[in-house]
Amino acid sequence: MKILIQNGSLVLPDGVKKGDVLIEGGKIAALLDSGSKVGDAEIVDAKGLLVSPGLIDLHSHLREPGFEYKETIATGTRAAAKGGFTSVCCMANTKPVNDNAAVTELIKLKAKREGVVRVYPIGAATKGLKGEELTEMGELQESGVVAVSDDGRSIVDANRMRLVLTYAAHFNLPVVTHPEDLNLTNNGAMNEGYWSTVLGLSGITRAAEETIIARDCHLAALTGARLHVAHVSTAGGADIVRLYKAKGAKITAETTPHYLYATDDWVDGYDPSTRVNPPLRTKDDVTALIAALKDGTIDCIATDHAPHHFDDKNLEYALASTGISGFETALGVCWTALVAPGHMTGEQLLSKMTSAPAELFSLPGGVIAEGGVADITIIDPSEEWVVDSSLFLSKGKNTPFNGKKLTGNVVRTFVGGERVYERGV
Ligand code: DOR
Repeated sequence: MKILIQNGSLVLPDGVKKGDVLIEGGKIAALLDSGSKVGDAEIVDAKGLLVSPGLIDLHSHLREPGFEYKETIATGTRAAAKGGFTSVCCMANTKPVNDNAAVTELIKLKAKREGVVRVYPIGAATKGLKGEELTEMGELQESGVVAVSDDGRSIVDANRMRLVLTYAAHFNLPVVTHPEDLNLTNNGAMNEGYWSTVLGLSGITRAAEETIIARDCHLAALTGARLHVAHVSTAGGADIVRLYKAKGAKITAETTPHYLYATDDWVDGYDPSTRVNPPLRTKDDVTALIAALKDGTIDCIATDHAPHHFDDKNLEYALASTGISGFETALGVCWTALVAPGHMTGEQLLSKMTSAPAELFSLPGGVIAEGGVADITIIDPSEEWVVDSSLFLSKGKNTPFNGKKLTGNVVRTFVGGERVYERGV
């Protein structure tokens, strides 16, 4: 079957251009002039809309196997499609942990059978995420993992991290670090500062994140390994990444939509949906992260989609599980935070959510090009909408953006030429 996406503004590697996209056999068969006629194609009208490469998320939690009451591959990938994502990488903090080929194979099989977007598992760096014995990274890579990470937990022992990096380098596998010194976090509930004092909540110093970013960047420089820094949330964290990139270390970094928009004053009211790890920081951090995205220090935006059950969140603030259900608000939050106020063009933002992540983990997609996979997201850049988490396809309704008005929304998502999401259908 052929599909012709007509009259849209195509987000191409060399700029935004008016045109049509012909999809056939799961591939982009041709890029044509606007209003082209193709006999037997189904027409999708994209007038006034952006036709973007499908969004790619390097950091999510699909919770399956083991935590299906929070999310499944079926619900998580449908939420991802609604958020415009065509590929998602899923972290290893499942039950059992994805620290061996059997679990990776299970995730891939489930994704094929029950998922609607491409799923790329990330394997654990240490067995059971315990920070001790290294995983069989070669075997994990053969079974399909695209990176290794103990995300959700930091590898406490610096020498163990050095060994993780050294071993992963043999396979050219990126190591994703969850930068958090647990001694410095000290069971804190929110960012340490004015608001933690006012609200009487125990604070988490930014040093908890920054010391591990510094340690791991230094170890990456030492070992020559590929290090990807997860969820950078502080100005200082971005500065350290910038410094080590300048030294030529193989370091890449992500931040998330929530660190680009929400701040620690949102915790006023003790809404547990604002509880996330690392915690929401300050306006100065947001400003610095935007600058770091713009100058290339932060390579991409990932969601850290972390769905939780109501019962895990609906607790006293400090006891609530950390995490934000992020797939379905990512584009709107980023558009509202970055494009609407003029910090970036839509094209620049989309490159941070498409071509950049594809390149970092060598994933297919990320560009609209003849012969490439037909992973495409159609976006209405001017649509204003109000987040209603009760309408989320994710099982996790935990979002601090509920009730917020956003600009920019996903209209349709195609994976391999298949329509996996259409607004209002
Ligand atoms: O807030 C978070 N939630 N941060 C993480 O690093 C892990 C995640 C989770 O798995 O819930």
